[in-house]
Amino acid sequence: MEFRGSVAAITGAAGGIGFALAQEAVRRGMAVVLSDIREDALEAARKSLSELGGDVLAVRADVTSSAEVEALASAAVERFGKVNLLINNAGAFVASLAWETPEAQLDWILDLNVKSIAHGIRAFVPRMIAQGDPCHVVTVASAAAITVYPGYATYSTSKHAALALTEALYMDLAAEEIDSIGVTIAMPTIIQTDIMSPEKASPAALALAEGARFRHRTVRAMEQMMRNHVASGHAMGADEVARQTFDAIAGRRLYVLPGHDGEADVAKATSIAVGRASGTNPYPPILDAILQSIGRAETTAAPGHAPA
Ligand SMILES: NC(=O)c1ccc[n+]([C@@H]2O[C@H](COP(=O)([O-])OP(=O)(O)OC[C@H]3O[C@@H](n4cnc5c(N)ncnc54)[C@H](O)[C@@H]3O)[C@@H](O)[C@H]2O)c1
Repeated sequence: MEFRGSVAAITGAAGGIGFALAQEAVRRGMAVVLSDIREDALEAARKSLSELGGDVLAVRADVTSSAEVEALASAAVERFGKVNLLINNAGAFVASLAWETPEAQLDWILDLNVKSIAHGIRAFVPRMIAQGDPCHVVTVASAAAITVYPGYATYSTSKHAALALTEALYMDLAAEEIDSIGVTIAMPTIIQTDIMSPEKASPAALALAEGARFRHRTVRAMEQMMRNHVASGHAMGADEVARQTFDAIAGRRLYVLPGHDGEADVAKATSIAVGRASGTNPYPPILDAILQSIGRAETTAAPGHAPA
């Protein structure tokens, strides 16, 4: 698809990966519809992209509401006459144990990380089909779409579902012989963003879940391990995720795995994929390494540690 002169709509674009994707879209000559639940941050993002020379519309939308996502699509088409690229990016991470995920937290994460994608597809894809010009739909999933870690009960479940839903979109477009719409699923590893402060977008959902969230060492340690990785400066930057994702869109590639460049990561992802395909569970040896990491992270996690 020709980026210049096309229109992108990006959810969760007030910060992190979403904002980096919006910057990349502007750099590649696209008009951009920015959307987020945080109004002040959204306005700051709109200003900064306008200063970059972008033709930008900002629309506050909570992606957990199908009505608000539908209103977002209407506003985008009203302003620009079309949308060529939808990026379902908004999402959040919280750790939890499989047997102790509060229902409020489960509902929030599944609504935000999974149902939001269905809302986006329902609101935008019929418009793209009617347009008939080259279009593309992107899901920002996660490495957690193909792996499971201790403490990742809710997040991995949501990202596996996001992967399946987006693969289903790809399959349905192919079966219906709709060639004008491409699909890409980005599955980054840990990225340098503000994802470890999920309370910025949904304080109510997290307040309900707080007690259970920090009761167990696994949950504390997994959250601390992610923070440590970001603080160490070793995590990939959001700009690089955006660049690789746009390259995948340009090449009409279904999968892009930013951050899986290291040999160990690639070997791990491959062993998981091969193990799953062959019906051989690859997790026990991987789990040993993870449990050692948890032990290391636990020593740097204060008991009862709450997010910054
Ligand atoms: N940072 C990572 O390590 C990482 C790794 C893999 C995948 N991801 C995925 O990338 C995506 C973006 O995350 P990020 O790292 O940029 O985090 P982030 O917290 O910096 O950005 C997420 C954005 O989504 C917005 N948002 C939250 N709830 C919303 C709602 N209900 N409606 C609309 N917007 C909402 C937030 O306000 C925020 O601006 C998420 O789907 C996340 O799961 C992140």
